[in-house]
Amino acid sequence: MQIEKAAEIGFCTGVRRAINMIERATKELGPLQTLGPIVHNQQVVDRLAEHGVTVAESLDQLKRDILCISSHGVGPQIIEEAEARGIKIIDTTCPFVRRSQVAAKRLANSGFSVIVFGDENHREVQGVLGYAGDKGLATIKVPSFKNLSPRVGILSQTTQSFAAFHSFVSSFVQTHLESIAELRVVNTICDATRKHQEAALELARRSDLMLVVGSRGSANTKRLAELCSALVETHHIETAQEIDPKWLSGKVERIGITAGASTPDEVIDEVVSRLREMK
Ligand code: F3S
Repeated sequence: MQIEKAAEIGFCTGVRRAINMIERATKELGPLQTLGPIVHNQQVVDRLAEHGVTVAESLDQLKRDILCISSHGVGPQIIEEAEARGIKIIDTTCPFVRRSQVAAKRLANSGFSVIVFGDENHREVQGVLGYAGDKGLATIKVPSFKNLSPRVGILSQTTQSFAAFHSFVSSFVQTHLESIAELRVVNTICDATRKHQEAALELARRSDLMLVVGSRGSANTKRLAELCSALVETHHIETAQEIDPKWLSGKVERIGITAGASTPDEVIDEVVSRLREMK
């Protein structure tokens, strides 16, 4: 049985940057709180907790006048409210998410309706929508034109697949072209997502089984699992303990492993070790 990791796997630049920033800040300033988890991975959150980094769900839950913003970013209302309360901000928003926020604001200020192709309940999307004010809308289905202005801008959640974004934009044009005066599409899918997805698909094509490692709450990990499962038997697991020996029976000779952008190396290595033991 051959076990192979995808060429691009695990922590992306944005997650690495956020964790480094917060670790540095903790050393300088002592215990800190992030607004929501710093990334969507419980092992990372637990490890940071050992260094005094805990999670607050709102500004009211802060124990000190310092707030760490996660890599997913937040809307401008939260920044304004924190500043008004005199709270110091440590902002670890990923630069790719920041680029989406800037695009949403620019489009909304120019009179465009702003559609974000993505999950309306995801923190990143909620933050980006905050920059579009009352002109923003998040969806994964082509919306009706009823509440849109004739000038429309479309962005993507950074972790969507390019194929899904392409299909959404094409359907939007097909459905609404007659009503549109101007359409701007900003490809805000991040580089790390694109590279992770390409490497996972390349590996899935020559594997008999794919394991996708990462939090079930992680959008980019879920996307990897969806993409791989269209090609080969795929299981999304959070830890090595979830591997079911039944998956390895039969004609499974090549096992591919990929992992979401917030999955630590240790968790991936444990999966590889467990597979080797089970072999
Ligand atoms: Fe940033 Fe993309 Fe990672 S948006 S946090 S580089 S998955």
